[in-house]
Amino acid sequence: MAIQTISWVNGHVKLIDQTKLPGKLVYIHCRDVKTLWQAIRRLSVRGAPALGVAAAFGVLLGIKSFAGNDWKRFSKHVDQISDYIATSRPTAVNLFNALERMKQVIGDHPQASVAQLRNFLKKEALAIYEEDRRVCRRMGDFGARLIKNGASILTVCNAGALATVDYGTALGVMYTAKKQGKKFQVYACETRPLLQGARLTSWELLRAKIDTTLICDNMAATLMKQGRIDAVFTGADRIAANGDTANKIGTYMLAVLARHHKIPFYIVAPRSTFDLAIENGRQIPIEERSKEEVLGFGGQLTAPRQVKVYNPAFDVTDNALITAIVTEKGIIRPPFRENIKRVFKK
Ligand code: MRU
Repeated sequence: MAIQTISWVNGHVKLIDQTKLPGKLVYIHCRDVKTLWQAIRRLSVRGAPALGVAAAFGVLLGIKSFAGNDWKRFSKHVDQISDYIATSRPTAVNLFNALERMKQVIGDHPQASVAQLRNFLKKEALAIYEEDRRVCRRMGDFGARLIKNGASILTVCNAGALATVDYGTALGVMYTAKKQGKKFQVYACETRPLLQGARLTSWELLRAKIDTTLICDNMAATLMKQGRIDAVFTGADRIAANGDTANKIGTYMLAVLARHHKIPFYIVAPRSTFDLAIENGRQIPIEERSKEEVLGFGGQLTAPRQVKVYNPAFDVTDNALITAIVTEKGIIRPPFRENIKRVFKK
């Protein structure tokens, strides 16, 4: 059965509460922007493309409370809602790109009534949602070419249907390869501290009947050394103009390992994950999360409460370690700076 991660239903946002997976498949209904903000912050909804859609829908929730017909006041209200949503999580640029698009709608219609603006905003949010569905399938078509029959693939975190509207980026490539009849297996890194790989990727891949083996993060090097990995596929949260890529913490480690073992390392991400306004990965804001996430899991302490903790949620992989980036416009190879510019200019 298909996974519908997030949708706009009867004037509110319906999303899978990913903190409850794999134990329970339950939904949260967000009827106001604060509830949605909290869902983003605690990772009930997560993954860069899904965060873009959530942000756009968040604006629709936020304008529900606006009364009046003044363009200027409405525009200010939309700015305030956007600024608020922007404080939820800092790294995935899809969230900021979606908010920019929503604000642009207002700027594009200086003569419109507030009622018309509401309609335009709804149209834009639904367009962002539909685009995600479409581009994920396009990336799947391009990326599946990189999966050889009989391949053994490593992935980290969750870049699947649960990280998008309903298909996925890195896992979308695998879904397409499977549809094409290719045989392959996937190793999923469990992805400490919040276990997106163990909880979400293995849940998703099993539902899709893809041969999946779960490993602890610290087993990846050994598997590579044993010749059991043919390619690494991951998603991304923000890609700079030079191809440096922020993704879930641990991705950089896998890229270094892949290079040492001469294994191709692929990123799969749509245009909305690129931040062409920044030169390189050093400019990407990296979210730091609470120490509780590292001290234990599910309310169970696994370390002394007093120990100091460092908990960056993402890391940056240098472009030099990336074999190619799969996008909806095609597969981008080095030199990344030139080729990213060329592909997205078209
Ligand atoms: O903290 P998360 O779970 O939001 O991190 C998600 C990732 O790092 C994903 O790999 C990334 O957003 C790409 S999802 C298609």
